[in-house]
Amino acid sequence: MVAIGSSRLLFFLFCALVHVVTFTISQPDFFYHLCLSENGNYTTNSPYQANLNSVLSSISSNSEINYGFYNLSAGQGSDKVNAIALCRKDINLDVCRSCVNDSISKLTQLCPYRKESIGWYDNCMLRYSNRDIFHIMDAETSHRYYLCNPNNVSSLDQFNQVLENLLDGLRSKAASGGSLVKFAVGYASAPDFKTLYALVQCTPDLSELECNDCLVSVTGGFFKRCDGKEGVRVVSPSCILRFETFRFYDPAIVDELEPPSSPPSLLSPPPPLLSNNTTIEGNGGNISRTVIIVIVVTAAVLMILTISICIFFRKRNLKEKIIEIIHHCLAPFVKESLQFDIGTIRAATENFSEAKKLGQGGFGAVYKVPKSFDFLEGWQNLVTKL
Ligand SMILES: *[C@@H]1O[C@H](CO)[C@@H](O)[C@H](O)[C@H]1NC(C)=O
Ligand SMILES: *[C@@H]1O[C@H](CO)[C@@H](O)[C@H](O)[C@H]1NC(C)=O
Ligand SMILES: *[C@@H]1O[C@H](CO)[C@@H](O)[C@H](O)[C@H]1NC(C)=O
Ligand SMILES: *[C@@H]1O[C@H](CO)[C@@H](O)[C@H](O)[C@H]1NC(C)=O
Ligand SMILES: *[C@@H]1O[C@H](CO)[C@@H](O)[C@H](O)[C@H]1NC(C)=O
Ligand SMILES: *[C@@H]1O[C@H](CO)[C@@H](O)[C@H](O)[C@H]1NC(C)=O
Repeated sequence: MVAIGSSRLLFFLFCALVHVVTFTISQPDFFYHLCLSENGNYTTNSPYQANLNSVLSSISSNSEINYGFYNLSAGQGSDKVNAIALCRKDINLDVCRSCVNDSISKLTQLCPYRKESIGWYDNCMLRYSNRDIFHIMDAETSHRYYLCNPNNVSSLDQFNQVLENLLDGLRSKAASGGSLVKFAVGYASAPDFKTLYALVQCTPDLSELECNDCLVSVTGGFFKRCDGKEGVRVVSPSCILRFETFRFYDPAIVDELEPPSSPPSLLSPPPPLLSNNTTIEGNGGNISRTVIIVIVVTAAVLMILTISICIFFRKRNLKEKIIEIIHHCLAPFVKESLQFDIGTIRAATENFSEAKKLGQGGFGAVYKVPKSFDFLEGWQNLVTKL
């Protein structure tokens, strides 16, 4: 029995080790990928395969491109391979490079022998083809993928209005971004104290018009497939779009498009009393939320305190109670005068008897109290009758 037990344990450990090893050497899964067959397959050791390997290795070894967009090709004629890799602008260069490396391994592994394939990670995209793909917007709707956030919005019309305004601004900023980067992120306040965060990006080889068209088209796809949902992630070969009610991009790396200043309304909170160099993240919605959180937390703390005191009082007799309170709760806060439980004071001073009276102080009469009320020591055995 012992032999069987330990061999099972060894087997289990071995399996666990194999899992760890395979987990660490394999690339993460794509968010989405396409192995396209319209343009045919290549065969082992064909010139196409050689060109593909060559272009992919020039992308992974490239150390000059620092704007997150790779557009390289290799070969001639029907064996020419064009490849594009694009990183999200809000990630660092080394994260971009390792994402592109992962894509290269993963895509060739998932789509062996396909002349055209596309893979999307959260942080980057890789595509290659025997077709011309540079400076061309891929309008094929079957090459797009939408992942809707399952949460429903509650005020649909207002939400969609905010969304459309935000996306309009981001789209024109991204489209006009130039030939190295076409990217924009920004936020706007949405109904129900929420903030809407959005990101759009095109491959920068597109013209301003093409980038705009690609984003208009994927936005239309959102309203068709995910209308009423709180967020979406859309990937397509020429542009990507994402929005959520939480911030999913890194504002430390990229400039956000500030929300347009709207006329003050009754609903908008007063300007926050923060020092003038404090960055306020988000907007009015967040500030109201902070106020609500503060109120709720304060109420919760008071409630817990009250409950604790009730429980405490039920368990102890009066004298222990008061000793505890004085030593642990009141002593640090009260120095000069202190309002004790009137019953205790009566007992200690024998009902404020004239015999115990030591004198009249600024705060009232001063009494001497018996030794048994030693918890009053901190106040030199004196109780001030208020
Ligand atoms: C390419 O290969 C895949 C399987 O590897 C196959 O399903 C597909 O039909 C092939 N396409 C062409 C055009 O031969
Ligand atoms: C990507 O792969 C290339 C070669 O395959 C390697 O030289 C480079 O260091 C890798 N980059 C990262 C960030 O892993
Ligand atoms: C959203 O609404 C649909 C239909 O109105 C409902 O089936 C679904 O459960 C809702 N989703 C969530 C996350 O509340
Ligand atoms: C690759 O992209 C860069 C930057 O957008 C551009 O200047 C260059 O012309 C492109 N190369 C090709 C072959 O399209
Ligand atoms: C805040 O603004 C006032 C003038 O508007 C300026 O004198 C002061 O130095 C600023 N303080 C900080 C911390 O930026
Ligand atoms: C804001 O101003 C204070 C001095 O008033 C300074 O110590 C702090 O570094 C400033 N913060 C920023 C983000 O500029």
